[in-house]
Amino acid sequence: MRWKFMMNGKNILLAVTGGIAVYKAVALTSKLTQAGANVKVMLSEHAANFVPPLSFQVLSRNDVYTDTFDEKDSRVVAHIDLADWADLVIVAPATANTIGRMANGIADDLITTTLLATESPVWVAPAMNVHMISHPAVVRNIEQLYADGIRFIEPEEGYLACGYVGRGRLEEPEKIVARIEEFFGGDQHDLAGKKVLVTAGATRERIDPVRYFTNHSTGKMGYAIAEAAALRGAEVTLIATTNALPVPRGVTHVLVDSAESMYQAVQTHQADTDIFIFTAAVADYTPLEVHAHKIKKQPGDFTVSMKRTKDILKTIGTEKRPGQVVVGFAAETQDLETNAKKKLSEKNADFIVANNVAESGAGFGTDTNIVTIYEDNGAVHELPILAKAEVAQKIIALIIKRSENE
Ligand code: PMT
Repeated sequence: MRWKFMMNGKNILLAVTGGIAVYKAVALTSKLTQAGANVKVMLSEHAANFVPPLSFQVLSRNDVYTDTFDEKDSRVVAHIDLADWADLVIVAPATANTIGRMANGIADDLITTTLLATESPVWVAPAMNVHMISHPAVVRNIEQLYADGIRFIEPEEGYLACGYVGRGRLEEPEKIVARIEEFFGGDQHDLAGKKVLVTAGATRERIDPVRYFTNHSTGKMGYAIAEAAALRGAEVTLIATTNALPVPRGVTHVLVDSAESMYQAVQTHQADTDIFIFTAAVADYTPLEVHAHKIKKQPGDFTVSMKRTKDILKTIGTEKRPGQVVVGFAAETQDLETNAKKKLSEKNADFIVANNVAESGAGFGTDTNIVTIYEDNGAVHELPILAKAEVAQKIIALIIKRSENE
């Protein structure tokens, strides 16, 4: 009964590709349906060798789609109709072949064609042999898909059908359903009517028309937070220094460059924002002088004089009005707790999300992060390594919990 409430009415398009783990996709179909989702299944030709379409048809209570040219309804084009219908598409199990075709934009069957046509979030749950998943070509393809904004449900370690023991088992259907449920935020639009502002990426401090000072931030953490907040119904403004990442659905993207331009953009929204989340890696210093022309090299050393930038988090934290929530991040390489707590009080934030950017799997550019969240009421939440999307969901959940208790 609990599940039914959580996913009620969501349209889930399940793409099943060929591997022994297809049997788990049968259980996944059943669990998604029990959870209240409307499920439609696309089955690849190879997947149909393992389990016939009828099993999926019975469990989903919908037609099963196997062929691009098998149009079931003459009024619509099936792959476009499916692509538009879905609130979320999940490829499970995803074979190395399907992942490779997706990463290269190949559309040579119903599943890959539909995946190119959809604007909905796409998730991939790989299942394959332990050596295949660590093959450089597969690793490269997965990285490409991460960069394209595809979300992964990483495979488990365990006994594999090929006889090996290792990483490559399709995640259990219950866990996949739980992740999808989390993604939809338990279907609670509990941030509806709230305005959330997120900063993301590395600022660029110019010294002349061709050179600037910057850092390694890609914006991934901030984009994940913007998406998590939008999924909970918030009106989200994402002030970012990059447009290299796909902007999450429904989020307003504002492109900025330097610390000063980010400060100005944030100020524009200062009065009417309810929740500020500052993930951007903002320069603390900017060149005192910006040369109009490219600086020519000269004999000897070259010194650049820098001045302090405005501290956006500190300004907003200090000036916040009752009811506004301010969340800062802390990128540290040592003394995480001491430094994070110092930032929490000095910048008058409600939360500081601290990450040790020297730690593997955390910080800049990675798809995962390892964070500890410090609240100004003394609460501390130490999270394990998680996908940035999951870290984002946890942060949003904590903010909501706090506001419910106040
Ligand atoms: O973008 P990714 O590649 O996904 O990487 C994510 C991340 C490592 C950038 C992110 O997890 C993170 O740690 N962000 C904070 C980076 C940072 O600049 O930390 P800081 O400790 O230097 O700054 C503390 C806080 O003050 C931050 O919220 C920062 O946005 C804010 N700040 C800093 C300087 C300044 N002039 N104005 C600010 O608002």
